[in-house]
Amino acid sequence: MTGTGERIVIAGAGHAAGQVVATLRQQKFAGQIVLVGDEPWLPYQRPPLSKKFLAGEIPSERLYFKPGSFYEDPLIEVRLQTRITAIDRQAKSLKVDGDEDIGYDKLVLALGSRPRALNVEGADLEGVHYLRSISDVEGISAALDGSRHLVIVGAGYIGLEVAAVTRALGHDVTVVEMADRVMSRVVSPEISDFYQIEHANQGVKLRLGTTVAALSGRKRVEGVETGDGEMIPADLVVVGIGIVANTELAVDAGLEVDDGIIVDDHCQTSDTDIYAVGDCTRHPNRIYGRSLRLESVHNAVEQAKTAASNLCGKESQYTQVPWFWSDQYDLKLQIAGLSEGYDDVVIRGNPAEKSFACLYLREKRLIAVDAVNAPRDFVQSKALIAEGTIIASDRLANADQSLKDLAAASPG
Ligand code: NAI
Repeated sequence: MTGTGERIVIAGAGHAAGQVVATLRQQKFAGQIVLVGDEPWLPYQRPPLSKKFLAGEIPSERLYFKPGSFYEDPLIEVRLQTRITAIDRQAKSLKVDGDEDIGYDKLVLALGSRPRALNVEGADLEGVHYLRSISDVEGISAALDGSRHLVIVGAGYIGLEVAAVTRALGHDVTVVEMADRVMSRVVSPEISDFYQIEHANQGVKLRLGTTVAALSGRKRVEGVETGDGEMIPADLVVVGIGIVANTELAVDAGLEVDDGIIVDDHCQTSDTDIYAVGDCTRHPNRIYGRSLRLESVHNAVEQAKTAASNLCGKESQYTQVPWFWSDQYDLKLQIAGLSEGYDDVVIRGNPAEKSFACLYLREKRLIAVDAVNAPRDFVQSKALIAEGTIIASDRLANADQSLKDLAAASPG
């Protein structure tokens, strides 16, 4: 037992927050836990939102991180639909809308992020949606019912996953992306090319290197005007142009923030009584030798475990290889590591068979992998990236031999 009589408050009630509660409980934290979030739901998983939940294949109950009964505990207090307006570090309390301050001994910021807004004329018309929460997807699903022409702004994870689901539902789908290739933030040109062909084959119309000049319509959106003057008919627009980390409360409280709340490898902020986890943080990553702000559920979960362990007095450091995944049609894309700065790329397997991996090396070290329907290469690469393995790149393309065996036999 640890922490008897102590009060840990978690600001935010998303996936990371749910994991903090779960790990505190696993580590036998015996004090009080208060979870404060502005959404109406208990912590839930966001990855299925733009996949199976949008496709109508799973009900919202399946999204919950833990069942409601998990929080029915005299030492856990859950305050949903509660907006935090300020952190008072001197008084060690949170100010919340229309209620008494909430005092803490230790505070965990799990504030997440919000969709970046599209700032063009007509962006506030009816029929323009973002996708971040359960209610966002419920809104899109309801709107899809009476719509035929869907325009998606942004060809990142959200845009392409929504394109895949809605094409399968039979909608006419156009994706407008300002970069000259899809998913340019996260994958290499080789992977972008592959996905562009797949989406085109499925009937998605891609407008790359194209900006949105305005959305038109009287009350409801009727069309998307592109920067090069094309008018694309639209009954419904879904915007997925990235996220903004929710750091304002931390900035106002005087914590160190630099596009993410700065934490150390214990997930501790510049105030030793305050930890921060998930999308809203920037952490030092030893594997890549620089600080990172990651947008991934894996990062949220692992940072939550690290923070909760340290809060229970069990020294724990966050040293993880980042990883991400995306489901589009029958393609599972799994990404480990960060490919930025690679000087060599090797393709294993055959893109034409829809099963291959792109391996990225820098100075002969494996730094990242993008694996399409190639789970074994993904798993083995992840381990090799963590170990900083040096591999002769001319042998990597030999898909008959496992990466593990190739690395073991490599002279490096
Ligand atoms: P993203 O950063 O992945 O993609 C945004 C895309 O929008 C980029 O390609 C960018 O070039 C483009 N863009 C930006 N401004 C634009 C503009 N004005 N006009 C046209 N294109 C523009 O962000 P996305 O897709 O919105 O995803 C949001 C968050 O959700 C991310 O953190 C992502 O990691 C997360 N997510 C993760 C998933 C996964 O892991 N499978 C699935 C869905 C979302």
